[in-house]
Amino acid sequence: METRPWTSGQATRSAFIVPDGLRGRLAGRLMLRMNRQDEVAALLGVRPGERVLEIGYGPGGLVRRLTRTPAGRVCGVDPSPEMRAMAVKHAPRAELRLGSAADTGFGDAEFDCVVSVNSVALWPCLESGLDELRRVTRPGGRVLIAWHGGRRPPRVARRFRLPDDQLRRVEDGLRRRFADVTRRELTELTAFTARR
Ligand SMILES: C[S@@+](CC[C@H](N)C(=O)[O-])C[C@H]1O[C@@H](n2cnc3c(N)ncnc32)[C@H](O)[C@@H]1O
Repeated sequence: METRPWTSGQATRSAFIVPDGLRGRLAGRLMLRMNRQDEVAALLGVRPGERVLEIGYGPGGLVRRLTRTPAGRVCGVDPSPEMRAMAVKHAPRAELRLGSAADTGFGDAEFDCVVSVNSVALWPCLESGLDELRRVTRPGGRVLIAWHGGRRPPRVARRFRLPDDQLRRVEDGLRRRFADVTRRELTELTAFTARR
């Protein structure tokens, strides 16, 4: 599936951007093995009964973890039918839809937490995605956006790190829409947290 990420502005087709076909499924397996979601789940700190949305769930590693927390409802959107098929197998209790960061299909203020890992740099429009995140997050709710980086990025993921000006665009975009924006360097991810 071809897309034009805001970070490059160029039409791109890659098994890691919007995974499709056999290469997409292989990329999904690699993501399941490589993308460690423990720190993200800990930082999110889901409380009993909370409604959580993941944007760009890929093969479902994080949604699977989230269904093992005391969350009341775990939902996700991702534009890739291949990723949805994989994620549904890994997280059968989650409500996983096809959609995008800019158009999740969920209602206003429907979630207590919204999280996105290794997806933000792939969105065609950062601003539309952040607008939508704000719309679906309830007042006082939490947002977490993470991308490859951190204190010890694995060698294979180093080439995906974003330049500082693009990380600043994510941070500034969050500041225009949310409160308490904080940047943290996790082991393999740079993460921004914020509160609506
Ligand atoms: C590199 S994978 C990461 C998957 C998963 N979050 C993880 O950490 O393993 C990127 C995912 O973002 C999804 N994606 C691409 N464009 C998107 C968009 N505009 N909105 C939401 N998700 C998108 C892709 O389909 C893919 O599943």
